[in-house]
Amino acid sequence: MNVLLIGSGGREHALAWKLTQSKNLKTLYIAPGNPGTARCGKNIDIGVNDADKLVDFARQKSVGLVVVGPEDPLAAGIVDAFEAAGIKAFGPSGAAAKLEADKAFAKQLMRASSISTAEARIFERFSDAKAYIATRDEPVVVKAAGLAKGKGVFVCDDPSDGILAAEKVMCDGIFGSAGDKLIVEDKLLGEEASILAFVDGRNMYVMESSQDHKPIGDGDTGPNTGGMGAYSPAPVVTEKMMNQIVREILVPTIDGMTRNGTPYKGVLYAGLMITAGGPRVLEFNVRFGDPETQPILMRLKSDLLEVMLAVCDGTLDQVSLEWDPRPTVCVVMASGGYPDSYEKGKKITGLQDAEQLDDVIVFHAGTAAKNGDIVTAGGRVLGVTAIGQTIADAKTRAYEAVDKIKFDGAYCRRDIADKAIRRKGN
Ligand code: AMP
Ligand code: GLY
Repeated sequence: MNVLLIGSGGREHALAWKLTQSKNLKTLYIAPGNPGTARCGKNIDIGVNDADKLVDFARQKSVGLVVVGPEDPLAAGIVDAFEAAGIKAFGPSGAAAKLEADKAFAKQLMRASSISTAEARIFERFSDAKAYIATRDEPVVVKAAGLAKGKGVFVCDDPSDGILAAEKVMCDGIFGSAGDKLIVEDKLLGEEASILAFVDGRNMYVMESSQDHKPIGDGDTGPNTGGMGAYSPAPVVTEKMMNQIVREILVPTIDGMTRNGTPYKGVLYAGLMITAGGPRVLEFNVRFGDPETQPILMRLKSDLLEVMLAVCDGTLDQVSLEWDPRPTVCVVMASGGYPDSYEKGKKITGLQDAEQLDDVIVFHAGTAAKNGDIVTAGGRVLGVTAIGQTIADAKTRAYEAVDKIKFDGAYCRRDIADKAIRRKGN
């Protein structure tokens, strides 16, 4: 079967790498892809939001399955466009993608389905948001309701910073129309976890747990990013906790989406805070996480293409997945300055040395090929991912590989997986 994968990040390189292991894959096309995906299939020069061109291309190449990586085309209804053309597409409809694309919609769904999340208020006018935040003396979390590339959330320990954040989002328009609505919610305390599940409309298959590292700095300091590293599994999610998450969060969400007339299909990603009082939803995403996908898929032993087809066909109940029990750690190498402005076009060296290490895969994200070299082309540049006997071992291997890779201004966190290591005591 020919498959078209849409996207160009580290997540897509991991998806492409895994799809090439499928026994039923004929040709993999990636639009637009990156130098990493070019090693897995054919990169096609069509942008992720160019639905008409992508549908035409899929028709021409007799594509049997389209896999959509990022949230923007999903929110714009690209899955609906492929399905209207009679082409199977992995991902939710545009209406169901509101679960991520409109945090106000997600809050309302959670409220209606009694799903635990932070207490929140939704505002459409800055003056109202300001007046409300001014009454608060506890920390607040201010969020743009729309899509903001993982950067639309401000955790403000001092509520007066919350007012400044609300002003940037609603008045200065730093996220454009994504900031037309604002969520102000209570700050939750605890450890985060990402739980991703395949959902086919009725059935669900929960993947192994993982944990992201959102802030730019070690010790979870500084502004939020798209994610600076991840590992799998997350020991904070015990078996008992996982059962509770499935029962109290995932199942009611899928049921709620069906009741709402927007049945869910694709990957449902619940970003959770594991608080002293149990798991609480921070956000839903309607796609694979980036960088969580890199460590999760490195542990998947089963055929990803088969599972994705089962999601599209509504036969997920007939699928069972096998996982490598060994833990994985992914360290993101970023351009100096990210998540603010940064320079591009820096030559990357040491990639081959890093890849020659056992049990290491270097997933490309913001890279480009230029005159025979690989150069930086984005904020998050590489996801250096390793598997080990223990989480500490996986961490050591990942950083050993990181240290072989050089580019001007390269930055990474040095504490990826430390929370898991402390918890496990190894
Ligand atoms: P979101 O995109 O909504 O997941 O938010 C991005 C990040 O902001 C999360 O991964 C958390 O680190 C942080 N965050 C979001 N909401 C809250 C909250 N209510 N309490 C504490 N931290 C939060
Ligand atoms: N790692 C966070 C995200 O994919 O949104």
